[in-house]
Amino acid sequence: MTNGRAGLWLIGAYGGVGTTVAVGLSGLARGIAGSTGLVTALPAFERCGLANLADLVIGGHELRQTSYVEAADILCLKAGIFSADLLKACRDDLANASAAIRPGLAIGAGKCIEEMADWPGMTRRESCRATIARLQKDWSDFRAAHDLAQIVVINVASTEPLCPPAPCHDSLAALENALDRGDRAGLPASSLYAYAAIDAGYPYVNFTPSQGASTPALEQLAIERSCPIAGQDGKTGETLIKSVLAPMFLARNLQVLSWFGQNLIGNRDGLVLRNPANKSAKLASKDQVIAGVLGYQPQTQVGIEYVPSLDDWKTAWDFIHFQGFLGVKMSMQFTWQGCDSVLAAPLVIDLARLALLAQRRGERGVMRHLACFFKSPLGVEEHDFFKQFEALLEYASISGNGAGDEVTEVLNNARA
Ligand SMILES: NC(=O)c1ccc[n+]([C@@H]2O[C@H](COP(=O)([O-])OP(=O)(O)OC[C@H]3O[C@@H](n4cnc5c(N)ncnc54)[C@H](O)[C@@H]3O)[C@@H](O)[C@H]2O)c1
Repeated sequence: MTNGRAGLWLIGAYGGVGTTVAVGLSGLARGIAGSTGLVTALPAFERCGLANLADLVIGGHELRQTSYVEAADILCLKAGIFSADLLKACRDDLANASAAIRPGLAIGAGKCIEEMADWPGMTRRESCRATIARLQKDWSDFRAAHDLAQIVVINVASTEPLCPPAPCHDSLAALENALDRGDRAGLPASSLYAYAAIDAGYPYVNFTPSQGASTPALEQLAIERSCPIAGQDGKTGETLIKSVLAPMFLARNLQVLSWFGQNLIGNRDGLVLRNPANKSAKLASKDQVIAGVLGYQPQTQVGIEYVPSLDDWKTAWDFIHFQGFLGVKMSMQFTWQGCDSVLAAPLVIDLARLALLAQRRGERGVMRHLACFFKSPLGVEEHDFFKQFEALLEYASISGNGAGDEVTEVLNNARA
């Protein structure tokens, strides 16, 4: 059975993650790429009624003028992550997908991101309401051009600086008021995108640490517009391992004394995160997992350094000092070397399919069952990967059996 074609709209379309999603979807649809790395390809999701991968159509917003073909060629040349055969087979699909990429919104994304914008008009002043109307028109044009039954909007743009608290975060009324006045305080670009998507009724997923929809005001809008939302900051590497290892120390009653992590990253994401304001948003997201699982706060530190020679290949090294029986101190270390975009892209596709499913099932507000995908899961305190994954499997089994939305609601509330 098919659910019709659905749009996967990427904010930050031509980045490493966005480009790998485009190449991956084309390769999957053409039968030349396998589904390894896709959580939704596991047997547990077979009967959920997820969108067919071949039915997903790519569109997106960007700040930089390039194309999927160029972006994929650069990733291939610098990081060697796509085979020549795969790129050759996907070329026409990538060219078609580039035709659906529209100029986005740079204002409010922070100085370092604004400086990357080279699409003409990108930094022009326009009112908040005019920006929202422009983004929504892009989506309705996309929907009409490709005859789409649904659209899901996923933020894979560069990480913005941390946003200080503002009154427009607290309630929808205060937010609407700020938008009417054109007051951008507390409204980074990611939150304007989120408002525009949710207001138009499109599920919104934030794969980045940027503020996006993570305010009470935007959560309220999601409930009012019957729109599912999720975030934030995809859990793909070092933090994923932390959320797997920390439960082991807890279960064996071993006391973690200190946990130090260092991340070396060489792609454009690393370049943006070199900026202290942008880095602080990422560090805040990465450093909460250990205490969240253990229930106490050992000494922790996370570092991120930009090492251009690594390009898309990230290295994380962690040192864990712990105490066992009779007070004896021991340690463990691990090194994780992964390809950033290849780890992230399948999860973006998973999140798109699960968000589209949630909307078809009439769910609204935070999709708490998606916590295992995120470093800072919205609406969920649980950081233990296994418990988070169990919640996802439970959701899949209920969806697969065609149970009613009330059951899902009960499940979501129980996990809050
Ligand atoms: N790769 C991973 O494993 C991983 C894991 C978790 C989170 N993330 C987050 O995902 C995001 C994307 O990562 P990436 O490696 O693709 O980064 P990237 O720098 O390669 O891509 C980001 C893209 O977003 C564009 N962009 C920036 N601001 C924009 C805006 N306001 N509107 C439209 N486009 C905008 C940039 O021009 C760029 O093309 C980052 O925020 C990163 O922290 C990545």
